[in-house]
Amino acid sequence: MVKKALITGITGQDGAYLSNLLLNKGYEVYGAVRRTSSINTGRLSELGILENINIVTMDLSEITNIQRVIEQIEPDEIYNLAAQSFVQTSFDQPIYTSEIDAIGVSRILEVIRNMGGKSKFYQASTSEMFGKVQDSPQTEKTAFYPRSPYGVSKLYGHWMTVNYREAWNIHACSGILFNHESPLRGIEFVTRKISLGVAEIAKDKKENISLGNLNAERDWGFAGDYVEAMWLMLQQEAPKDFIIATGETHSVRNFAEKAFSVIDIDIEWDSNDDTELGKCKKSGKALIKVNKEYKRPAETDHLLGDATLAKNEIGWEPKINFNSLVEMMVKKDLIRVEQGPICF
Ligand code: NAP
Ligand code: GDD
Repeated sequence: MVKKALITGITGQDGAYLSNLLLNKGYEVYGAVRRTSSINTGRLSELGILENINIVTMDLSEITNIQRVIEQIEPDEIYNLAAQSFVQTSFDQPIYTSEIDAIGVSRILEVIRNMGGKSKFYQASTSEMFGKVQDSPQTEKTAFYPRSPYGVSKLYGHWMTVNYREAWNIHACSGILFNHESPLRGIEFVTRKISLGVAEIAKDKKENISLGNLNAERDWGFAGDYVEAMWLMLQQEAPKDFIIATGETHSVRNFAEKAFSVIDIDIEWDSNDDTELGKCKKSGKALIKVNKEYKRPAETDHLLGDATLAKNEIGWEPKINFNSLVEMMVKKDLIRVEQGPICF
């Protein structure tokens, strides 16, 4: 029997890669899209899979909508990737972020419960729940300390997932995924902002890139690798939560240096305060500026994940390393700056 998967957040970065993976495995893929005034299925088109997906309209704020969609499809697996996923915005829109990233999860879980718990459920949890880290590297046992309304909302969704598994015997699990990037990443996230900025500078379309906290450290992996972990988690006999990470951490500064090296530019830094500049070693031109507008009211300074449990129990390991990831993103943006489209 062909398996049916319902993916919320299908228009996002992970939604595109996960759809591709599931289609290749022979799934019937249903993609939940919220109503917007313009078409935003660009990532699915870029992967050449839009025509193979059954698009359904569903907003996480509306339980009756969720119920009708799930009742109609009766999916074997539900991947809840939909979220207000930008941490910075969550400080300005904390209530909306909670509505979707926290209560939205309860809405789906309630529908699954009311339908007898037949659909398996994957929740997109996040390393942002570790926030002010209590231990490093972070494992499944590390205490949470979220530092943003986004992180707090996701923590609620995480514990609801655990609770519905324990209380109602639903095959529900939560992937605690560390940052994962790709050429399909949204342009507001720092890695894509840098890769696109570097490409624009290389093609004389931009003078410099403005960034916030250069010293924040992230464990960055490739999104294409990470969606495989989501699928693997739902194929296990017993549901369980896993950390998904590379086990390496790099600063934003380090990411920017590597990205510029792809276009043969070495960066040197000229001070270590709010007026810091990243200059081209050869020409002395300022290519990176610090703008406090991009700094956060409360920051997650350091993330480093230990995915040993995932390796041992579900056989997951990352394939793309940091250098290859940065190179892949800059090279794709160099092409896009000339041929478009730049964003989705
Ligand atoms: P993304 O590119 O920002 O995609 C988010 C998706 O959620 C989009 O399809 C968006 O639709 C949809 N969405 C937002 N609000 C919605 C609503 N009210 N109803 C229905 N859909 C809604 O995010 P991503 O990077 O693919 O991440 C996927 C999931 O993993 C998110 O839950 C994110 O929080 C989580 N996560 C991501 C990372 C990472 O590093 N990428 C790490 C850990 C966890 P529109 O296209 O209409 O905006
Ligand atoms: N976006 C952005 N823009 N971030 C900047 C900038 C800038 O100009 N300058 C420095 N940063 C720093 C942020 O302060 C943060 O410490 C780090 O770069 C990464 O920021 P983002 O790329 O916006 O990602 P994030 O870590 O906040 O959140 C992403 O990863 C989470 C997993 O840890 C998102 O994908 C979340 O949805 C995800 O849960």
